[in-house]
Amino acid sequence: MVEKNINFDEEIERKNTDSLKYDFALRRGRPADVLPLWVADMDFKTSSLILDEIHKRVEHGIFGYTETQDAYFETVADWLLSHHNMKIGRNWLVKTPGIVFALAMAVKAYTKEGDPVLIQQPVYYPFTEVIEDNNRKVISNDLILGNDGKYHIDFEDLEGKIRNNHIKLFLFCSPHNPVGRVWTREELVRISEICLKYHVIIVSDEIHEDFTFEGYTHTPLINADERLAGQVITCTSPGKTFNLAGLQISNIIIPDNGLRHAFKKQIAATGYSQLNTMGIVACEAAYKYGDEWYQALKKYLQGNLSFVQDYLKKEIPQIRLIEPEGTYLIWLDFRKLGLSEPELEHLIVHKAGLWLDSGAIFGKTGEGFERINIATNRRILKEALDRIKAAVETIGL
Ligand SMILES: Cc1ncc(COP(=O)(O)O)c(C=O)c1O
Repeated sequence: MVEKNINFDEEIERKNTDSLKYDFALRRGRPADVLPLWVADMDFKTSSLILDEIHKRVEHGIFGYTETQDAYFETVADWLLSHHNMKIGRNWLVKTPGIVFALAMAVKAYTKEGDPVLIQQPVYYPFTEVIEDNNRKVISNDLILGNDGKYHIDFEDLEGKIRNNHIKLFLFCSPHNPVGRVWTREELVRISEICLKYHVIIVSDEIHEDFTFEGYTHTPLINADERLAGQVITCTSPGKTFNLAGLQISNIIIPDNGLRHAFKKQIAATGYSQLNTMGIVACEAAYKYGDEWYQALKKYLQGNLSFVQDYLKKEIPQIRLIEPEGTYLIWLDFRKLGLSEPELEHLIVHKAGLWLDSGAIFGKTGEGFERINIATNRRILKEALDRIKAAVETIGL
């Protein structure tokens, strides 16, 4: 099967499609005409081969309850094995309508109200929300921005926080959103040693696993130590990779029978059973036929990253790019401008006319940073950077 014209430069109007990114600025307190580069979906049309399968299903015309069979499992298992060297057992896979849903199920299944749950801020803000909304307590092993310009794990603090707070559950982000780290095998081994020692269950959110830049390889946490099979839940999804977030499908891999049983029980208690038919169709098509499109996407994103790197160096050197190793989200350090949080927000929203994710929402340590989604066409990306440049020039630094 061959893709029909892959063109990531194509201009596709997303306004008036009920797009969270494009159609909700006013309702979310921004001017109507902001250019949005916030929420993590892409401005690209998905693979034509996925669309073909969806069209076939639409033509069939019946959308009754749908369940997956062996072919679905085999397709997911093949993708994880061929792209990430991750081997999964037939009964380990639990489907959920998204990964945030899975995080919430894990919090409910493995902790009680009032329990502490560990995260590493700055981190994807729903990590905090699913903990606090379920009346658990956030404990953060904050990532440290080193002199090498990369974020690192403070392992002493990690072990101390686990020991002193009797942590039972750790929500881990790998690759990490927003700081863009693709954790090395050595780092994953150190995490596993600590979590094995204190019997901490780790939910490893690997939704960004397919996005690594040149020179970096994603290692699934579970491959760091075989003993982790008893205490790791790996969250995977075609949602980011193939731009299918609205179809709500993710595959949660839970090798341990007891943990899987508790997780499924929580889903049942929530009243959820079969998934959306189109999510299932799209996921199977993506992993079966989508590789050519995905490889082309990776190249385009690599080009976008080079474009941003050059632009910032030449045009806005006051803003520091935290060099990403993975994800399509970049983390920009605006602290040199010396602005307070409201002043930075004003600069981005009102002077630059952009809708980005303000770093502060990822945790206290995100203050002074902004997260930009670069999964858009190069024209929009350039326009966003031009707008930032013009806004920064008004400050006169
Ligand atoms: C780390 C991480 N986890 C989960 C999600 C959302 O996943 P879903 O839409 O499947 O709930 C995102 C989206 O940005 C993310 O960055």
